Amino acid sequence: MGSSYSFCLPSGVILNFENPEGFYPVNPYQSELLALVAVQQAYVLSAEKEAPLSTFHAIEWCAGNGPAAVALAKIGVGHVQATDVSQIALKNTKKNAKKNKASINTSIESIEDSGSKTEKFDLIAVNPPCRQSNHIPTSTAKTIKQAMDGGNGGLYYFKKAIEKSTTCLVDGGRLVIVLTSTMDVLEAVNILQAHYQNSWFAAPTTPILAPCPYLSPEDDKGKALLASAREENPRILVYPQGDLLNRLTWIIVAHKGKEAPEHLAARSLKERLPLCPYGFPDQPRDQKFVEPAARLAQTLGFGTA
Ligand SMILES: C[S@@+](CC[C@H](N)C(=O)[O-])C[C@H]1O[C@@H](n2cnc3c(N)ncnc32)[C@H](O)[C@@H]1O
Repeated sequence: MGSSYSFCLPSGVILNFENPEGFYPVNPYQSELLALVAVQQAYVLSAEKEAPLSTFHAIEWCAGNGPAAVALAKIGVGHVQATDVSQIALKNTKKNAKKNKASINTSIESIEDSGSKTEKFDLIAVNPPCRQSNHIPTSTAKTIKQAMDGGNGGLYYFKKAIEKSTTCLVDGGRLVIVLTSTMDVLEAVNILQAHYQNSWFAAPTTPILAPCPYLSPEDDKGKALLASAREENPRILVYPQGDLLNRLTWIIVAHKGKEAPEHLAARSLKERLPLCPYGFPDQPRDQKFVEPAARLAQTLGFGTA
């Protein structure tokens, strides 16, 4: 069934997205957070470089419905592209750009081939397929599988994006990437450290607890995911709440540059990947966040969160 979702830019402008029938179920929390952190980073870059947004080049890889690309174009980033391997995805991106009167270029491209052109970007946003292959039922439709299947540990495209970003970003540029607890989070941290050393952190207000609206603990897919989360792989944090399954989502910001900015280098790993989710700072911490955070903290060896 098709769905729609909306979110608000810092300027107060509301963006509206259609996720048409037949396309994979998008997690709107993740889309919104990715877009808003990308927007925030574009403003930070503009201030850092003392350059107007209109001079910036940005791209959203694995664009799906194109939330980050549309949002960046809408705030005035001058050159915005969106790429995806799926024709349907790019059709959706185009529709959503038109709906929101945002000007972006789209092209079919696998993330594996990105970086083959000479163009460099000030900002790259990406929400890669993030489910572990062995948790996806074989009966899953092709488009859905393509959007979800992150290979071993859910990290194949996450790793590709991190690797490719190091050549596709200008010096001082930013990668904004989704990390979710459906991935092998510990290994994801190793990949980030290997490519960005200390120059990355989880954006404030993340992690958040995001429901997977299409997965119920009552259906077979949900049951399989829960079983593996609880027994086979304690690094996966998916747990039931009412009739939904939930997971944690962080939006990671990585700085391209030879040296980590001082304020980042000074942060410990624990400070850069907060394990004790707090939702929005002015809201009291919700008890429902605590259990998964504590489990992740133990897995990463930080003790209790
Ligand atoms: C998690 S979805 C992204 C959702 C998107 N952020 C949104 O809100 O609509 C992952 C996307 O990656 C795309 N994808 C899968 N394999 C890809 C590849 N090799 N290269 C580029 N995109 C790919 C899928 O078609 C899908 O649109």
